[in-house]
Amino acid sequence: MTATTLPTPSDLSITPRDRRFGREAAAPRLWHGGRVEATAIYNALSTTFPAGEAFFVESVRAFREGAPPKLAEEIKAFTTQEAIHSREHDAFNKRASQSGYDLSKLEAQVEKRLAVTRDKPPIVSLAATMALEHFTAILAHELLADPRHLKGAEKETADLWRWHAVEEIEHKGVAYDTWLHATRHWPRRKRWNVKAKVMLYVTRNFVVDRTAGALELMRQDGVTGLNAWVRLLTYLWLRPGMFRKIAGAWLKFFLPGFHPWNEDDRELLRRYEATVGCVPEPAKKVRRAV
Ligand SMILES: [Fe+2]
Ligand SMILES: [Fe+2]
Repeated sequence: MTATTLPTPSDLSITPRDRRFGREAAAPRLWHGGRVEATAIYNALSTTFPAGEAFFVESVRAFREGAPPKLAEEIKAFTTQEAIHSREHDAFNKRASQSGYDLSKLEAQVEKRLAVTRDKPPIVSLAATMALEHFTAILAHELLADPRHLKGAEKETADLWRWHAVEEIEHKGVAYDTWLHATRHWPRRKRWNVKAKVMLYVTRNFVVDRTAGALELMRQDGVTGLNAWVRLLTYLWLRPGMFRKIAGAWLKFFLPGFHPWNEDDRELLRRYEATVGCVPEPAKKVRRAV
């Protein structure tokens, strides 16, 4: 696939929205409707973002050199969005710590996983980023498409998650297009083999680590043993069942001709802008803010 045939919409604009959340008043410890398992899984996910998204940025930027101008611009906007996400989730994680959670075990696990990938050639980091960005984008799509996922959540915190989801959808093709550009001389088969292997590897780690992380946070709320497992697995796989609902979109990654923008879900972004009335900030101003 050449740069001219990329399915990324030609009129796509990746616009960082420099917003801040939760600085005025602290959300309750169990901000997700008082539910231990719901709060735990979102908190576990948030713990990965500051270091994880910094890793995404460094992995993609390593291949910016020689990228076509449109892609180079998109990488710049992607970098700004992810930097602001890291800042906001870092602030969110600090508030979770202040409310009494010990996130150190979860953070150490993230660092351990990143160190394994950083020890490999840069193209592996790009492949891992490309796979995880697809993962993030399908989670984001589901989060925005079905209001049950954030039902009962404290408003400001729910806003943080929606805002992040919107920008993940908006820049969902950047790591993928960078990967296509970086591997443009690879045989098709090699490209597919590497991307499939990497996706299986990161998915296994994602599901195992986030489940373990959420169980650890539930333990800190006094919910342990079989009770904790049943509550968490029900939440993740049955009701509202985020992991079950993204399974189909996850599988599409393995199809020949896959591209994140084969599904144009910008309608979710338009709906968000209409309800929030959020006017994106100009990128220049945002970069200074980071
Ligand atoms: Fe992000
Ligand atoms: Fe992202």
